[in-house]
Amino acid sequence: MDDLRDAAAALAEARRVVVFTGAGISAESGVPTFRDALTGLWERFDAQALATPQAFADDPDLVWGWYEWRRTVIDQVRPNPGHVAVATIEAHVPHTVVVTQNVDDLHERGGSSAPVHLHGSLFTPRCAGCARPAPAGTGAEPEQGRRLAPPRCAHCAGPIRPGVVWFGEALPEEALETAVQEATDCDVLLTVGTSGLVYPAAEIPKVAAMFGHTVIQVNPRPTPLDEVATLNLRGPAATLLPALVEAAWPVS
Ligand code: OAD
Repeated sequence: MDDLRDAAAALAEARRVVVFTGAGISAESGVPTFRDALTGLWERFDAQALATPQAFADDPDLVWGWYEWRRTVIDQVRPNPGHVAVATIEAHVPHTVVVTQNVDDLHERGGSSAPVHLHGSLFTPRCAGCARPAPAGTGAEPEQGRRLAPPRCAHCAGPIRPGVVWFGEALPEEALETAVQEATDCDVLLTVGTSGLVYPAAEIPKVAAMFGHTVIQVNPRPTPLDEVATLNLRGPAATLLPALVEAAWPVS
């Protein structure tokens, strides 16, 4: 595939790389993507409707139960060869910055050193009142589809909320600044498994394209980012990313 060869050549020459990921990179680990239909008992709920401050204010047990269930799902799955390939890119190009929209910890467990979490993390709950961090995984174990009362803050007794960014909330300032700066200064930006529909995160590949850098997209389906991508690699991340790494830095 010529595009794979061209993408590998760009990667092998790059001194600064940004790997920008979305839910698709974790799909083959068994984590449903955001726009997949929710399964089982959760199919009655709209993921986007649950991911808002208003939903938490209206029904904290519903929202906390949903996020805690998602956290336990993540605990039971493993990083896939796509996550491992990203860590291999970091090993070859030391100035590689992973910027993820994912709230899972599969990049960390796949070997990435310090992924930037643009949308927060399921593993960093905090108090909804005083914003102090709270320990993860100390509440009751959730069951799929069940409400679960959020634990209370040890300092102010406020309800603990997930450490994720909800619709209508600002992204963490430092994470967004780092992402924009790295996209501005990179040689290659690799965008993997994102629909490119949610802003401001979807600006990150566009920033790299605007500065004339090579943008490589890995996704089985077309996305709005097709038009800014220099090279579009169509296929699943767990197959294409290892193939890209192997082509960039052949082992033998
Ligand atoms: P989406 O669920 O919107 O999109 C997932 C993308 O992954 C789609 O473009 C799929 O084609 C692609 N995909 C599916 N399987 C894949 C595979 N095996 N390999 C590669 N790609 C695959 O997820 P995101 O773009 O991450 O925000 O969604 C962005 C944000 O929207 C999320 O971070 C979340 C959500 O609302 C917040 O929670 C704030």
